[in-house]
Amino acid sequence: MIEQVLPPGVRVAELFADPEHTPDALFPQEATHIAKAVDKRRREFTTVRVCARAALGELGVAPVPLLPGVRGAPGWPAGIVGSMTHCDGYRAAAVARAADLASVGIDAEPHATLPDGVLGMITSESERRHLDGLARTAPHVHWDRLLFCAKEAVYKAWSPLTGGRWLDFLEADVAVDPLAGTFRARLLVPGDCPDGRVLTGFDGRWHVAGGLVVAGITVAV
Ligand SMILES: CC(C)(COP(=O)(O)OP(=O)(O)OC[C@H]1O[C@@H](n2cnc3c(N)ncnc32)[C@H](O)[C@@H]1OP(=O)(O)O)[C@@H](O)C(=O)NCCC(=O)NCCS
Repeated sequence: MIEQVLPPGVRVAELFADPEHTPDALFPQEATHIAKAVDKRRREFTTVRVCARAALGELGVAPVPLLPGVRGAPGWPAGIVGSMTHCDGYRAAAVARAADLASVGIDAEPHATLPDGVLGMITSESERRHLDGLARTAPHVHWDRLLFCAKEAVYKAWSPLTGGRWLDFLEADVAVDPLAGTFRARLLVPGDCPDGRVLTGFDGRWHVAGGLVVAGITVAV
């Protein structure tokens, strides 16, 4: 599923259920990090790391601990960029060599209307007008959830590039192309990065299938 929204060079792994994890599924540092979490959180944390290590393996990278770092962004091994996501019934990881891509952001959500009150907090008036137009074209898609999913993928791509700067939902304007399966997020705040790069926006892809919506973004080096 997630490969639908990423270019072929990105290595991915996904699972639609949590396997029975053996005690060595996590490195000791990871197990310590998640020890006090509730069972649901421990299972998603573990399964997505199993996915991430499988995807890393495809790049020839040996299993390593993947601990949350700055603002929760995963600490990838040197020379690797990537992203992880989990929601009910889905866990996925995507990785690439930093020589090939500067950043990756993925997000998955249940394909259902957002809970009451959320849309108003995460969209501008013009984005809501855009959503109304999309709903008239293709009423079977939950465009509100898709926009949310795209924005979370934006944040995951943005965060490592900016050294962990916060980006509010209202600080990017997202436009979805319903036919091409793409979206563009235009940044409404300066996108200066520590490496001198200046971000102005992100281009991504979206896909809806099997009760899920996924979004993926890659940023060129
Ligand atoms: C961080 C956030 C995007 C995670 O999204 P989510 O739908 O809640 O959860 P997901 O399961 O899809 O993703 C969780 C994973 O994201 C990754 N993640 C967390 N913080 C991250 C960050 N700052 N940068 C990159 N990846 C991050 C982690 O791998 C995490 O899994 P883990 O804790 O098991 O390692 C979300 O909780 C959040 O804080 N959003 C507010 C910021 C935002 O989205 N702004 C919109 C800008 S337009």
